Amino acid sequence: MTDPQSKTLAVSSPKHRRRDDATLDLVTVYDPTGAASDAYRMLRTNLFYALIDSPPKIIVLTSVSFGEGKSTTAANLGVTLAQADKNVLILDCDLRRPRLHSMFDVSNTNGLVDILSGGSRVEEVWREPIPGLKLICAGPSLPNPAELLSSRRLAEFLAEMRPRFDYVLVDAPPVGVSDSVVLAANGDGVLLVLDSQRTRKGPMRQALRSLQGVGANVLGTVMNSFEVSRRKTTPYSNLH
Ligand SMILES: Nc1ncnc2c1ncn2[C@@H]1O[C@H](COP(=O)(O)OP(=O)(O)O)[C@@H](O)[C@H]1O
Ligand SMILES: [Mg+2]
Repeated sequence: MTDPQSKTLAVSSPKHRRRDDATLDLVTVYDPTGAASDAYRMLRTNLFYALIDSPPKIIVLTSVSFGEGKSTTAANLGVTLAQADKNVLILDCDLRRPRLHSMFDVSNTNGLVDILSGGSRVEEVWREPIPGLKLICAGPSLPNPAELLSSRRLAEFLAEMRPRFDYVLVDAPPVGVSDSVVLAANGDGVLLVLDSQRTRKGPMRQALRSLQGVGANVLGTVMNSFEVSRRKTTPYSNLH
């Protein structure tokens, strides 16, 4: 007879018990009923109602600095949109610090870089980690990613993707990195992701000015690490 304890261990793979595992940030998959997943669904609803006459399709996620939760928000928002039967593409455009491949536990051997510079076909590169959700990872690292992201090829690529998806989520670098504002200007709307424990008002206003300066349409902010209890932190969105 099987020992019940060893059976439990076999179900829970070691990977999912490691605390530093990026897949644990995919709360909408592994903890869909938790408070953080609720918050991502709220963000999804807010997005549905943002600019109701011309709903934004290409949404760029950026932040004031690194590590504020852009990738986590892009991934979880993408999952909740796919769960609502939307056809979604997530692009990892943070070529210096790509993270989406770790969150979805897929290989980063090829990605956006190969599409934009190498001429790879998008169908050869994208993955579908969740039904309805396509992911294009960043791909191999480059000496000068800004050049690739500010190229006309990227704008053309986004235009090609537009009719094929309900939503294209662009995980961009922080605003201080030059390619980010170029990406923001190419999107229909921008979500500014903030770490509520860390981001100060001054740099946030500066980031908003940079985005508005290139004509980006800032839909609102997503505030991370917003304490709702001693143990849980949850994203909070404020779209206008
Ligand atoms: N809502 C949240 N509450 C607490 N920690 C979070 C939240 N969202 C992201 N994080 C943590 O912040 C870190 C950076 O997140 P990440 O999404 O990689 O940031 P970025 O893409 O902006 O660099 C990760 O360790 C992640 O676990
Ligand atoms: Mg990131």
